[in-house]
Amino acid sequence: MTNKYRAGDSQVDKLIVLGLGLLGASICAAAKKLGLANEIIGISRRQSTIEIAHAKEIIDKSSDSLATLAGNFGEDDLLVLAVPTLAMKSVLSECQEHVPPSVTITDVASVKTKIIEFAEQVYGDIPKNFVPGHPIAGSEKSGINAANPDLFKNHKVVLTPKEMTNQGHINKVSEIWTRLGADVTFMNADDHDRIFAATSHLPHYLAYSLVDTLSRESNANEIFDHAAGGFKDFTRIAGSDPIMWHDIALTNSRFILEIIDRYIADITKLRDAIEKKDSRYLVDTFNRSRLFKTKKTYRKDRSIDFISKPCGELRGEITVPGDKSVSHRSIIFGSLAQGTSEITGFLEGEDSLATLNAFREMGVLIEGPEDGRLIIHGVGLHGLTEPARELDLGNSGTSMRLMTGLLSAQQFKSRLVGDESLSSRPMRRVTVPLLEMGANIRTTVDGTPPVELIGGRLLKPIKYTLPIASAQLKSSLILAAMYADGESVIIEPVITRDHTERMMTAFGCNISVDDSSRSIKIQGGYQHIGTRIDIPGDISSAAFFMVAAAICPGSEINLLNIGINPTRIGVINILKEMGADIKITNRQDELCEPTANIRVRYSSLKGIEIPENQVSLAIDEFPIIFVAAACATGDTILRGAEELKVKESDRIESMAKGLKILGIETDVFDDGIKIIGGKIGSGTVNSNHDHRIAMAFSVAGLRSSGAITIQNCKNIATSFPNFVDIARSVGMKIDLESN
Ligand code: S3P
Repeated sequence: MTNKYRAGDSQVDKLIVLGLGLLGASICAAAKKLGLANEIIGISRRQSTIEIAHAKEIIDKSSDSLATLAGNFGEDDLLVLAVPTLAMKSVLSECQEHVPPSVTITDVASVKTKIIEFAEQVYGDIPKNFVPGHPIAGSEKSGINAANPDLFKNHKVVLTPKEMTNQGHINKVSEIWTRLGADVTFMNADDHDRIFAATSHLPHYLAYSLVDTLSRESNANEIFDHAAGGFKDFTRIAGSDPIMWHDIALTNSRFILEIIDRYIADITKLRDAIEKKDSRYLVDTFNRSRLFKTKKTYRKDRSIDFISKPCGELRGEITVPGDKSVSHRSIIFGSLAQGTSEITGFLEGEDSLATLNAFREMGVLIEGPEDGRLIIHGVGLHGLTEPARELDLGNSGTSMRLMTGLLSAQQFKSRLVGDESLSSRPMRRVTVPLLEMGANIRTTVDGTPPVELIGGRLLKPIKYTLPIASAQLKSSLILAAMYADGESVIIEPVITRDHTERMMTAFGCNISVDDSSRSIKIQGGYQHIGTRIDIPGDISSAAFFMVAAAICPGSEINLLNIGINPTRIGVINILKEMGADIKITNRQDELCEPTANIRVRYSSLKGIEIPENQVSLAIDEFPIIFVAAACATGDTILRGAEELKVKESDRIESMAKGLKILGIETDVFDDGIKIIGGKIGSGTVNSNHDHRIAMAFSVAGLRSSGAITIQNCKNIATSFPNFVDIARSVGMKIDLESN
C-alpha cells in the first residue's frame, strides 16, 4: 500500500477517530479533503452517527468499538480520541487493552491534567505513544452535522506531552495538525489548564449562569426579545454542548474554582461601588480593562519584521505622537497634585502607558486616554496607596528610574519589574544616592531590576552632584527630594533634558533652578496643585523623518508642533552641522515646553566630528544620526557617548553590526563610533528589540540598493505606535511581516 502523505519522518496509514462529534467528524472531513491518510476509520457507538459519516463521505470504514480493530493496527496509524472528557478514562482502558504501543494516540479534550491522570491510572504511567492535545476550535455548534473540514485552519492547537513522550509520536501529531491548517504550540498541562480555566471555561460558566438567571426572571420573554449586542454573545455561548461543559467543570475544577473565586470578589467590589456611587472605582475599573485591550492590540503578534525598500522622494506635512519624557512626567505630577489635571497630546505608547497603569494600580483615578487626552484626579503627595501586585513597567527605563525615586519615599512597599531588556539595565545610579537619603531598596546583586522598595522611611535631603549625565537619575532624585525632610540640592555638571524642572514649575512645585551653577533646589513636603499640560510632538520621533527627508533626494517634509526644548535639540544642531537643510518656523516659546514646525529638505550631507556638548542633547537620536552619517560624504566621529551602551540595547553595537551587514564601515570605540559614509546595501539586520534601532534601519532602507529586512520591530509600540502609517503617508515603503 502506498502512502498519500509523507512529511518528515511521519506518515499516516490508518487515521482512526474515536468519537464523531464536531471535533472528531471535522478531523475526518479535513483529513479526507486533504488526503492525509490512506484510510479513515470512524468509531461511534451510535449507528445513526456512522450512517451520517458515510453519507457525508468523511470516513472510509466504520466500527462501533476499538475492540473490533484489535490486531489490525500498524505502526503508521494515528488514533484520535474525540470523546467527552469524562468518557476518556474508559476509552483509555480500551486503548490499553487493544492498541499496541507503536500506534500514535492523541486526544482533543479541553482539559489536560485530568486526561494525563486518567492515562497514568490506566497504564500505570503515561504511555510514550500518547500525545495529549487540545485544538482551540470548539464552537457552540456540536455534533456530526456541524462537521467542517476547515474548522482548524488558522486555529491554535496546544500539545502537552510529558518528558517521557516519544519525540516521533509528538512529531507525527504536530505534523498532522499543521497539515490541517492549525498553528501548533506546546505547553505543560498545568499551565494549559490554568490558562483555559480563565479564558475559555470561566466565560462559558458566566454565560450559562447569566442566561439561566435571566431566563428565570418573570419578564424573561421580554428580556430575550430585546437581546442585543453583548447579551447575544452570552446566549450564543450558552448554546454550547452541555455534556462537554459539565465534564470540563468537573475535570478542571481546581483552576476553575480559583478563577471563579477571584471573579466573585471583583464583581462584589463592583456591586458595592455601584451601591456607594464610587465613580473612582467604576471609571478606574472600566478604564483599566479598556486600556488592557489596547495594550494587547500592540502585542498581538509574537514578532514583527519590517521590510523597508527604496522609494521616490518623500513629501508631506505630519504630526508625530506626544513627547514620551513629558508624557511620563505628566502622569507623575498630575497624580501627586491636589485636584484635577487635564493633559493633552499624551503619548499612547507602551512606555507611557506603563507609567499610567502603575499610578492606577496605586489608586489614582485617571480618565482616558482618548485621543491623547487624560483627566488625572490627583491624590496629593501622600495619597498613593500600596499596589496590590508588582508594577510591570515593560520596556520603560524612564518609568523604572523615576518611580524608584518616588516609591522609595512612600510609606508602603512596592516591587518594580520590567521586560528582558529593562531587567538588564543599571539601577545603581539611582539606588546609591537614594540609599544615602535613607531609602530601603533592593535590586539583584548586579544592581538590575526587579527593584523592591521597602518604604516606611522619612528620607533625608541630599546634596548631590550627578556623576553621569542622566535626566532619569536627576528626576528620580528630585522625586525623592519632594518627600525629604528639608531642602535638597542636585548639581548637574552636564546639561540633560529639563522636562521635570519645567513641569514642576508649571504645577507650581517648590523648585528653583540656577543656570549658572547648574544646581536645582527642591524643598521637601510642598504640595502642588493640578494644572493643564499640553504635550508637544516628540522630537525623538520627529528625528526619523528629519533624517528621512535629509537623505532622500527631492524630499521635503514639514513636521508640525514638535517640542524644541533647548535640552533636546542636539539632533537639529548635529544635522545642521552635517549640512542638512532645516528650517524652524512658528516658534511658540511661551509654553512650558517650547514648540515649532520643522521643515526639512534633501541636501547632501558631510561627515563631522560630533561636538561632545551635543551628546546629552541628542542622546536618543544617535541611531538615526548614524544613518545620516552612513549617507554622508566622509567620516563622522562620535565620542563621549558611553551611555548609549546601556539604553534599550547597546546602541553602538546594534547599529555597528547592522551597518556592517549593509556594507557600511565603522570603527567602534569604548565611548563612541566612527562611521565611514558610503553606499548602503540590502540585507537583514536585527533591531535587538530596540524601537529606535528598528526605526533607524527602516529609514536606512530609503538609500539602500535593495530591501532591508529589520527583525524584531514590535517594540516601536513603546514610543511610536503609528510609525509605519506615518512613514507610508510621506511615501516610504515599509512592509510588515509577522511571525
Ligand atoms: C529620559 C532620559 C534619557 C533618555 C530616555 C528618556 C527621560 O535617559 O535616554 O529615553 O525621560 O528622562 P538618561 O537620562 O538615562 O540618559
